[in-house]
This record gives sequence, C-alpha cells and structure tokens, in this order.
Amino acid sequence: MKFLFFKNRKKLREENEKNILDKLDLNNIPKHIAIIMDGNGRWAKEKNLPRTMGHKAGVETIRDIVKACNSLGIKYLTLYAFSTENWKRPKDEVNALMKLLVEYLKNEFEELNSNNVVINSIGNISKLPRICEEELIKAYEKTKNNTGLVLNLALNYGGRDEIIMAFKNMYSDLNEGKIKEEDIKDETLSNYLYTSGMPDPDIIIRPSGEQRISNFLLWQCAYSEFWYSNIKWPDFTRENLYEAIYDYQHRNRRFGGIK
Ligand code: FPP
Repeated sequence: MKFLFFKNRKKLREENEKNILDKLDLNNIPKHIAIIMDGNGRWAKEKNLPRTMGHKAGVETIRDIVKACNSLGIKYLTLYAFSTENWKRPKDEVNALMKLLVEYLKNEFEELNSNNVVINSIGNISKLPRICEEELIKAYEKTKNNTGLVLNLALNYGGRDEIIMAFKNMYSDLNEGKIKEEDIKDETLSNYLYTSGMPDPDIIIRPSGEQRISNFLLWQCAYSEFWYSNIKWPDFTRENLYEAIYDYQHRNRRFGGIK
C-alpha cells in the first residue's frame, strides 16, 4: 500500500515536471541561473533533525538541479554554498559543510565530468580548509576544457568582498599603467570579478520564503530577474526550476529602456 502511494506520487511529480517542461520556450533558456540555496536548517528543524541533515538533504537537491540545468542547455549555474558571513555559524556546522563539499566533489566528479560539466568556484577559496581548496582546484583543472554547463560553487564568497578585491586589483593595474582611468567602464570592473568572462545572471532564485540578496553577486545582479518561493532548498525540485524559468520567460526585461 505504502509502495503504491510513493509510486503514484513519483508518477504524478514526473507528469507535472513534463507538463511544465513542455511549456518552456527552448529558444529562450536563461544563460545564467544563480541560486541562494536557503532553508536547509528550517527543513531539518521541522523534522526534528540536526541542521547538518538539512545541508545533507540540500546536496541531493544540488545533484538533481545540476543535471536538470545541464540537460536544458543552461550555460552557467551559480550556487551560493558558503558566504563570507557563514563563518559566524557554530564550528560543527561549518565543519559539516566543508565535509559535504569534499564528499560532493569526490562522489560526483566522474558523473559531472562525463556530462561535460566544468566544476568552477567563485570566492576566496584559499581561506577554506586545505583539503577543500585542493579538491576544488583539482576538479577545476580536470574539467576546465569541458564545454557543457559551468557550475560555479560560491564558497567563502561575498559580493562586497569580491568588489573590494576587484577594486584593489584594478587600482594596482591603474598605478602600473596597465589601464587608463578614462577607459574604465562597467565591463572593466566586471573583468576583475570572479565571474569575469561570464554573462550576468539572468535570474536569481531564492527558495525558503526569504526575499533578500544576502551579499550575493551584488555587481552582477543589476538587471537580474528575482524569483522567490516558499519551498525550502531540500524540497526544491526540477518542477520548481522549470516554474522559475517559465516565469522568467514571461517577464518583460527592459534593462532601463522601453519596449
Ligand atoms: C542556507 O541554509 C544554506 C547554506 C548556508 C549552505 C548550503 C550548502 C549546501 C546545500 C551543501 C554544501 C555545498 C556543496 C556545494 C556540496 P540555512 O542553513 O541558512 O537554512 P535556514 O535559514 O533554514 O537556517
């Protein structure tokens, strides 16, 4: 009886996914999707589980959403996995997150690589535990020539921190005469960011009911479309991703102009 219930639920979910997927305009798929993976702690609390179990469940969602984005032909997916402010969390939680990251890279490497995914990171990864930094560099070196989805894991990432880093490097290039003050434009600063060479996110998704940017991609989000949902990240499904893309496709993006 229980088996039948789960089977029917799975079937229904797949049908819903297919229905919305069929409605997507495949000629207008966003190039860059960024996600603030929020709600893991509350998801766990609801179930009387430790917070780290919420993060563990969140990794399952990552696995599925990465595959879905790659199949849709999305070029960049940026996931906010650990912010410059997340160091304020209890040590045990920080350690658990770092462990999950290493496990993810080790367990998923073969599949991601065989699916042509580039495993990239944005943020100051030199301040992460050595093993995390090493695994990230190794994963990037082995996948950098792939041509499919670029998976940006935002780790020890903060938008303000990134802008300060960019500003300092630009200032030193100015002093050395590598760039001229009169040549500084939007793109000049963009080129100093971790996301240099990538398009700005078309859409930023934040599940779990919170509606704020939390120091994520501050420069890059100037004209991003925002999509919020009450679903907590561990419960976020492909259907939700397709809903977000569907809504995005029906927005009127004017970039300050008129249409
Ligand atoms: C926010 O939820 C989530 C995080 C700070 C961490 C996200 C990390 C993962 C899903 C896994 C590790 C990453 C990789 C790349 C394997 P929250 O804890 O703030 O939730 P709450 O607001 O409900 O407390």
